[in-house]
Amino acid sequence: MRKYALIYKLGVTMAHILFCLINSSHVNVNLYFCTPLSALKHTSNDNTPILFETIADELIEQGYSIRPYALPADLASLLVNCIADLPEDNFKRAGIGRAKDHIINDFVRTDEICWITGNSDAGSAWINWATLLQNYLNKRLFLGLFSFESHFSHYAKGDFYKKHKDAFKGEGNRVLSVVVYLNQYWSNDDGGELVIYPPKQDKTANKRLKSTVIDQSRIIVTPSLGTIVIFLSEEFPHEVLPALRDRYAIAGWFRLNASIANNIDPPR
Ligand code: OGA
Ligand code: MN
Repeated sequence: MRKYALIYKLGVTMAHILFCLINSSHVNVNLYFCTPLSALKHTSNDNTPILFETIADELIEQGYSIRPYALPADLASLLVNCIADLPEDNFKRAGIGRAKDHIINDFVRTDEICWITGNSDAGSAWINWATLLQNYLNKRLFLGLFSFESHFSHYAKGDFYKKHKDAFKGEGNRVLSVVVYLNQYWSNDDGGELVIYPPKQDKTANKRLKSTVIDQSRIIVTPSLGTIVIFLSEEFPHEVLPALRDRYAIAGWFRLNASIANNIDPPR
């Protein structure tokens, strides 16, 4: 009888330990991935200089910067509310190429976009923030950024954007890409990650190791509320994995001035 009581007690204890383990890892996942608006603490004025400095430092060091939960809380709140209020038919199927070359290609991307103007409080707050960043980066890095364009994007369940670059060498005048995520409570199982493919650092090293399979390194970003991603548009191929629920973001580009003579470069 005592033997059975012991086995029973052991069973209960093990079940308890298992329950705690499952529960605690669940909490960890939640803490990291599920960002409510209240998790973004600072307002535009407090941390912005430090944030811009970090972005500039990381751009110099690695050509990209990923700043989780860094968007100022007041700006994030305006943008989240703005997206919630936007009528569904303001979003249009996104295409590839610009102006007369614009085509819609289901194989490449399936998301919908809505260009951001300064006509709403949220739109102008966002453009102001981007302009502050543009001015800072021009001073610090002499990038000569001249203009900024951006849109909201909506990926419905199953939507994706295959591997692409935002600009091509010699052709594009998009210099810096910026992406900001607007999804509260995004979990590990919701898909929709941004995958960035850093260029191989040392091409001669790769040649020397011809017979070796070199695992291409990938940077995977969860599209949680307030996370900011900035990268050199010509250098980093990237893709958006299929989202498993509605996914909202802003994608924007800082551009050089490419207008020549009578051929005024259209803003998008
Ligand atoms: C884009 C893009 C990335 C993202 O719109 O060009 O790459 O994570 N977006 O939404
Ligand atoms: Mn892109």
